[in-house]
Amino acid sequence: MIVAATIDETAAAIAAARASDRTIGFVPTMGFLHEGHLSLIDAARAAGASFIVVSMFVNPKQFGPNEDLARYPRDEARDQRLLAERNVDLLFLPSALVMYPPGSQTTVSVGGVSAPLEGERRPGHFDGVATVVLKLFNIVQPDLAVFGRKDAQQCAVIERMVRDLDVPVRLIFADTAREHDGLARSSRNSYLTAEERALAPALYRALRAGVEAVTNGIRDVRAVETLMRTMIDQTPGIEIDYLAVVDPETFLRPAGFLRDVLVAGAVRIGPTRLIDNIRIARA
Ligand code: PAJ
Repeated sequence: MIVAATIDETAAAIAAARASDRTIGFVPTMGFLHEGHLSLIDAARAAGASFIVVSMFVNPKQFGPNEDLARYPRDEARDQRLLAERNVDLLFLPSALVMYPPGSQTTVSVGGVSAPLEGERRPGHFDGVATVVLKLFNIVQPDLAVFGRKDAQQCAVIERMVRDLDVPVRLIFADTAREHDGLARSSRNSYLTAEERALAPALYRALRAGVEAVTNGIRDVRAVETLMRTMIDQTPGIEIDYLAVVDPETFLRPAGFLRDVLVAGAVRIGPTRLIDNIRIARA
């Protein structure tokens, strides 16, 4: 595995791969890797990638002033080992100075879809995501790039950006990898104490209950939201940020269930904020 810290080294390695006709698959991450991240590498290969590029960069621009940038978990040695074991070809590991040299001032801001839910609770978050992802796309110039549905709104924002700005990349979205009790795998799960960890699957259970209500014929968006909310309200120690039924493209409240919908939620357990979602096929 080539480990590159600069844009020039990365470009050189990718030019060599292109010269030997490889299909470049790209998986951007913030490191502290888990099976969810690693499943994206498998999805890239399954989609035809023959040269896998992973980036690890804890992007300061997507963290709010009161968020966890300073304590975001890191274990670079372990991450490198996991990527090498998965036969990743190139790891791009830039510093903040490489990504945002003094003087840089351009921000990519995706409209409508970045406003509700996560966008409302985390002002500027999706601008930070869109900006870094477009920069990474320009640096790596991948044929295809893989993102996890765990961050469904992030997927929708990136898809919108790629369409609106004619970015020449094929996007692949991979299913959410979960722990045995349903908890979505996340680097932030490492923040949870044993007690908090025991509470965490309540989010997934509430979303499942929402899915079941819809598949059992409930057609009232607010009733589904109330049902999910009631399930979490019964669990002391968890605070609901939002629990919503939304359109998977706009992230606004859907008119009904004639198209696919998403049940999406965010909760706080102590200082930790967890998100999850499940897509429901149209009725
Ligand atoms: P990060 O949270 O490290 O996630 C990197 C990628 O892994 C994202 O596409 C995310 O959706 C995916 N992922 C995380 N948990 C997953 C799970 N349990 N199952 C499947 N996929 C999962 O998302 C980011 O980093 C950043 O915003 C980034 C896109 C790298 C831009 O900075």
